[in-house]
Amino acid sequence: MKTKRFNLAIVIAIAVLFIFCTVTKNKVGNTSLQKAFQGKFLIGTALNASQIEEKEPYASKLIPQQFNAATPENIMKAEIIHPAWDTYNFDLADKLVAYGKKYGIKINAHNLIWHSQLPPFVRRITDADSLKMYFEDHITTVASRYDGKVYSWDVVNEALNEDGTLRNSIFLQKLGPDYIVEAFRLAAKAAPNTKLYYNDYNIEQPEKRAGAIEIIKKIKAAGVRIDGVGIQGHWHMNDVPLEKIEESIKEFAALGIEVMFTELDLSVLPNPTGRPGSADISQTAAYNEKINPYTKALPDSVQKKLAQSYSDLFTLFLKYKKNISRVTFWGVDDGQSWLNDFPVRGRTNYALLFDRNLKPKEAYYKLIELAKQKQ
Ligand code: XIL
Repeated sequence: MKTKRFNLAIVIAIAVLFIFCTVTKNKVGNTSLQKAFQGKFLIGTALNASQIEEKEPYASKLIPQQFNAATPENIMKAEIIHPAWDTYNFDLADKLVAYGKKYGIKINAHNLIWHSQLPPFVRRITDADSLKMYFEDHITTVASRYDGKVYSWDVVNEALNEDGTLRNSIFLQKLGPDYIVEAFRLAAKAAPNTKLYYNDYNIEQPEKRAGAIEIIKKIKAAGVRIDGVGIQGHWHMNDVPLEKIEESIKEFAALGIEVMFTELDLSVLPNPTGRPGSADISQTAAYNEKINPYTKALPDSVQKKLAQSYSDLFTLFLKYKKNISRVTFWGVDDGQSWLNDFPVRGRTNYALLFDRNLKPKEAYYKLIELAKQKQ
């Protein structure tokens, strides 16, 4: 009898120890990014479907603790929310809205008009009238459904080429160069209680930035509302263009709109294209082992460099906290990051603040410290 009890006690002790280790393995304690940067700017993350549906208990706890803004990584893109002419699929977007309400997380809906991740039926459209019909119906239906339920919309995403001219997308081809102003006009009508943004990558670069400024001025000159601009921020940890970012914050803020960093991640892997970062999702490059050097773990020196680059970047963000309304990371943890498969499939990247076990990395603690110092 005694041995039985003794054995039971051991089993219970082991179970308790196991639960304790599981709970504490990725513990962030009481530190919180969104709290650390409170009163400065919102701290956001991109969420995928399983995060929205709270499928993983620890992530479900961590996300609202760390972030007060969220952007759907894919589920509000046209190919998912509007898969066929007369078919809208609002299930996940509705869940996202409920999720935001439950935790007091501001939702930036992403996005209304973008040349990528379009449903196949739109790609097949050949005449201008049909495209116009799609354009008007899509913006009006989706934006009005979520008006006042989401905080903001990326109305137009990635309309520019690197030289600042308009990208030759299906929208430019069929609707002409005024389609951007029209998209904002329709969105403003459908969603009077939602902020409206233009979002793009590399618009900190002078030529492309000039193109973005032209777009913003044109929208304003037409008497149409635009509330902010999102610089995506897909950069490399060795090559964060700090000076150009600073110039961009000043120039965009001078237009009287909010400035945001909307899809931040810092890749640590070799750039396979040799060209400075492009986030054009149609880009691909071939895999080889040389460009995937950290399959097992991230060396300490690289971890430190990543932390320093994040710290330098946030030092700049804090300097302009009056002009910056939100900084959103493109994902919660390294395992989720799209950079594991872009532009080369099957690599192991480490671009975010939480590792694959959702454990905060050195970069995380550096940002918490930085926020404290700059109180
Ligand atoms: C990416 C997602 O992260 C991936 O899951 C998806 O396969 C492709 O799109 N610019 C944007 C984002 O505006 O929507 C893109 O997100 C990354 C580049």
